[in-house]
Order: sequence, then structure tokens, then C-alpha cells
Amino acid sequence: STLSFVLGTRPEIIKLSPVIRACQRRDVPFSIVHTGQHYSEDLDSVFFEQLDLPTPDYNLAVGSSSHGEQTGKMIAEIESVLESERPEVVIVQGDTNSVLAGTIAATKMADIEVGHVEAGLRSFDRDMPEEINRRVSDHAADYLFAPTNTSGDQLRQEGLSDEWITVTGNTVVDAVHQNVEIAHERSSVLSDMNLDERFALLTAHRAENVDDRERFERLLDSVAKATDEHDLSVVYPIHPRAEKRISEFGINVPDTIQLVEPQDFLDFLVLEDEATIVFTDSGGVQEESCILRTPCVTLRDNTERPETVDVGANLVVGVAPDDVSEGVRKMLTRDRNWENPFGDGTAADQILDTLGYE
Ligand code: UD1
Ligand code: UDP
Repeated sequence: STLSFVLGTRPEIIKLSPVIRACQRRDVPFSIVHTGQHYSEDLDSVFFEQLDLPTPDYNLAVGSSSHGEQTGKMIAEIESVLESERPEVVIVQGDTNSVLAGTIAATKMADIEVGHVEAGLRSFDRDMPEEINRRVSDHAADYLFAPTNTSGDQLRQEGLSDEWITVTGNTVVDAVHQNVEIAHERSSVLSDMNLDERFALLTAHRAENVDDRERFERLLDSVAKATDEHDLSVVYPIHPRAEKRISEFGINVPDTIQLVEPQDFLDFLVLEDEATIVFTDSGGVQEESCILRTPCVTLRDNTERPETVDVGANLVVGVAPDDVSEGVRKMLTRDRNWENPFGDGTAADQILDTLGYE
């Protein structure tokens, strides 16, 4: 095939779906190499079905393990697939271990180039595994598809050549535009969950939040307190990493927070669109709430999506109770007329144009 997509987790499937569809429209031959980093049905196959994506040509089934073991297995397996596929370009998206592995395997092979979608994001927090993955991938890739001018400038500032950088917008805008109307038509999540008219949506899964017992407890308590002050119930579609920690640590989740299974994309889009406010530590959720004009409070100490804060859609507050409460008060009184900083929803087409696949 001409292009190989290497992907492995929920956000990569969602954010590469517009690029895969654009390949189908343009008759660009491609293959999908799934690392198997995510494998639970509700983090994986449900998105292929709902987004009408072809079944991966390869599933490397690496599963969960330590960073080194997981990434190492992926590199070896991806290399052997690429030996037979021999694509011109390998496309990776984002900052997961699957991205790091795909980039390293491909960049060392003669005649295979690497395109990094969502290049140039920086949290400047080197304790986050994702920050290392992004930096290494950006510095090894041949095509850097930066979502915004901020991320493009960051890459130039790190000495990467202008020739390699294209500001395309973020493919998440394409994905939201392609699915939000369908979501409202087809999803019955609001009535199925029996949600109040006003509710808050919470997602939290990031290692630095949920792998530390005290911090995870504080996060949940702060969200419960802040929402109590505004009479909001909270729905929390829980990522398996967080679910595992709750039982392992024996955490008592405050009873205003309703734990539910991870949602499919259409149901989740409706929840994001209809929520009074979103609490999150997810990258994709910060972007999507900004695009959908739902106020967002980010439960982290930093963000690699500063554009959401700059336009007024997001506040980065950490997990301390007073800071979370203040963040909610501020976001609930703001006008929701901010601009979407992530482009016009044509990122996928711009990526294929840049690669020369007309
Ligand atoms: C990974 C990414 C993170 C991204 C997230 C998207 C890295 C370093 N982290 O985190 O940046 O935001 O995906 O959701 O790449 N598990 C399951 N089923 C699965 C997958 C995982 O139950 O299908 C459980 C396992 O207990 C596993 C844990 O979740 O140990 C963590 O999975 P892992 O892939 O290591 O990282 P994520 O937290 O999913
Ligand atoms: N998402 C979903 N169902 C959920 C939670 C999230 O479909 O229950 C989608 C969400 O719309 C976004 C993506 O998953 O597109 C974000 O993935 P995640 O938070 O796992 O990873 P991150 O963006 O932080 O890397």
C-alpha cells in the first residue's frame, strides 16, 4: 500500500478516521496497522464500527504492559509488517506509545517516511510520558502536521525545518463536524441515562491523576464539591485505567458522581454537547468541548492545548477544591461565543494534499 496508518488507542482511531475516509474518497491505497495498545471493545472495535472504518489489516495485539515492554514489542512487530507492506509514508497521530513505536520503526527503514498528525503540541511537563512521545516523534518525522500556528511555531523554535511543517488544523474538527449531527439523530444517551437537564460530564484517566491515590481522591472530591454548589449531577464514563485504580485503592466515589461505561463516540459527543460543563484531563475532550462551545475545566497543572484557554473555552485548574470551584464559577458566567482555534474541518484533505495524493 501507499500509506500505512499505525494506530493503537481510542483517540487515534477517532482522530485518524477523517484521514482514512479521505484516502477512501481519493482512492489512495492504504493499510491499517493496529498495535493493540487498546483492545477492550469499548475502547477499540466500537469506534471502527461506528465510524465505518475498515477492519485493520494487521492487529499486533501487544496489549498492556510497562512502557518499555509495550513500546519495544510494538517496534519489533511494526517493523516486520512494514517490511512486507513497504508503504511510502507511515502516518501516526498524537502522543501515545503506539505513536512513538510507529515513528521509530518507520523512520529507520529506507524509503519510508513518517507523517506526524497533531505535531508540535507541548505541555512542557517532561514527567508526562506523552510529552516525551511527542517530542521524539516530532524530531524523527518527515512531515509535521501542526494543528495551529502555535504548534507550528513551537516546531520551528525547536529547529525543525519550515519545509517539513504544515499547519492543517486538527482532524478532531473534521471528526466532530462529520459526526455531531448524526449523533443527535441517533443517540438516545440522555434519556437512557436518565440525566437531569443540567449535568456535568467528567473524564479522568491520565496516569498523573489516577495512579496517585491521594490525587485521584482529591480530584473526585473537588468535582463533587464544585458541582454541588451549582446543583449539578455528574456523569463519569470511566476509562479502564481509572476503574482499575478505584478498586485497587478502594476509593469511595462521591455519590453525586455517576460512574458509567466508556461511551461510544456518538453518545459521547451528545454528552459533551449537552453538558452544562465538562471536567477533564483528556486532550481530545478539551478540544471537542471547545469546538462544541461547552465550557471546560481541566483537572491538570498544565495543558498542551493552550489555544482552548486563550479563546476562553477552558481553564486549567489542577485538582485542589477551591481552584476547581473557582474555575467552575468563572466558566459558568462566561459567554460561550468563543472561536474554534483548531481549523475549519479540512485537516484530513490538507494532509493528503501535502503528501501529494491528489
Ligand atoms: C493511553 C495513552 C494516553 C492516552 C490514552 C487514551 C500512553 C503512554 N498513554 O493511556 O496518552 O490519553 O491511552 O485513552 O500511550 N486497559 C484496558 N483495556 C484496554 C486498554 C487498557 O483494560 O483496551 C487498561 C489496562 O489495565 C492497562 C491500563 O488500562 O494497564 C492502561 O492502558 P495503557 O494503554 O497503558 O494506557 P492508557 O491509560 O490507556
Ligand atoms: N471518548 C469517547 N467515549 C468516552 C470518552 C472519550 O468516545 O467515553 C472520545 C472523545 O470524544 C475523544 C477521545 O475519546 O475524541 C479522547 O480520548 P481519551 O480521552 O481517551 O484520550 P486523550 O485525548 O486524552 O489522549
